[in-house]
Amino acid sequence: MPPGFWVGGDRQAGWDDIGVVAEGFGLPPVDAPSADFYGLWLGAAGWELRAPAAAGFTPLRLDFSLGATATRLRQAGRKQPLARAVGLKPGHAPKVVDATAGLGRDGAVLAQLGCEVLMIERSAVMALLLRDGLLRTAPAPVAERVSVLQGDARHELAQLARDADVIYLDPMYPHRSKSALVKKEMRMVRDLVGDDPDAGDLLAAALASGMRRVAVKRPGGAPALPGPAPLGCVEGPNTRYDLYAPQADQPSS
Ligand SMILES: C[S@@+](CC[C@H](N)C(=O)[O-])C[C@H]1O[C@@H](n2cnc3c(N)ncnc32)[C@H](O)[C@@H]1O
Repeated sequence: MPPGFWVGGDRQAGWDDIGVVAEGFGLPPVDAPSADFYGLWLGAAGWELRAPAAAGFTPLRLDFSLGATATRLRQAGRKQPLARAVGLKPGHAPKVVDATAGLGRDGAVLAQLGCEVLMIERSAVMALLLRDGLLRTAPAPVAERVSVLQGDARHELAQLARDADVIYLDPMYPHRSKSALVKKEMRMVRDLVGDDPDAGDLLAAALASGMRRVAVKRPGGAPALPGPAPLGCVEGPNTRYDLYAPQADQPSS
C-alpha cells in the first residue's frame, strides 16, 4: 500500500460498507478525502480511487456502461485480435484466466464474446474497484461470466489450469513517455501498483501450469517477455499478442 493510503466515503453512501473495507486494509475509515495521498472513496456511484491532488489524475471509477469501455463492449467481435489470441472461434468460447486483470477491460470484452473469465488481480485496491464496477455497471452477459479473485497469479495458476483453456497476460509495460497511447487511467494504475518487474516469473508460472494456451499482450514493437520465445503471434494495430503452447502443439491464430 502506498504511504498515507486512506479509505473513506460519504456517510450516506454506506458507512458500514466503508468501515468494512477500511478494516480490510487495516485502517480507520475517514469521512473527508485527503488531497495528499492515494485513497479509496465511496460515493453515490461506487468506489473510486483518488490520487494526490499534485498528481493531477481525476478519480478512477470502473464503469462498464459508459464511454470507451462501453463502446469496446458493444463493438466486440470474434475476429478482433484479442479474441483470436485466446483462440475464440465460431462455436468455441474458451474458458479464460485473465491473470493480470487491472481495469478488467480485456477480460470484459472476452466475457461479452461468450468466454467464462476468471480475473486475477494482485492489488487489493484494483480488485475492489473491479468487483464494485462489475457489480454496479457490467452488462448482463459480462456480469454472468466474470469472477474476480484477489491474489498473486504466480501462486494461483497451477491450481486453475485444470478448469480453463487459456491464460491471458497483460503485465504493465514500463513506458517512460506520457504518450497519448498510454491512457491516463493506466498511468494512474501504474503509479499505484508499479511496473510488474516480475512479469517473466508470471509467464514462467503460466507455462508451468500445463494450460494449453498462453497469450501475452505486448505493445507493438516491444520485446517479448523474458523466457522462451513465443511460438506465434496475433498482430493488432498498436498491440501484439504473443502465443505460447506449453504442451507441444502450436497455437493457431
Ligand atoms: C496493464 S494492467 C492490465 C490491464 C487489463 N488487461 C485491462 O484490460 O484493463 C496489469 C495489471 O496486472 C496486475 N498484475 C501484475 N502481475 C500480477 C500477478 N502476478 N498476479 C495478479 N495480478 C498481477 C497489476 O496489478 C495490474 O493491475
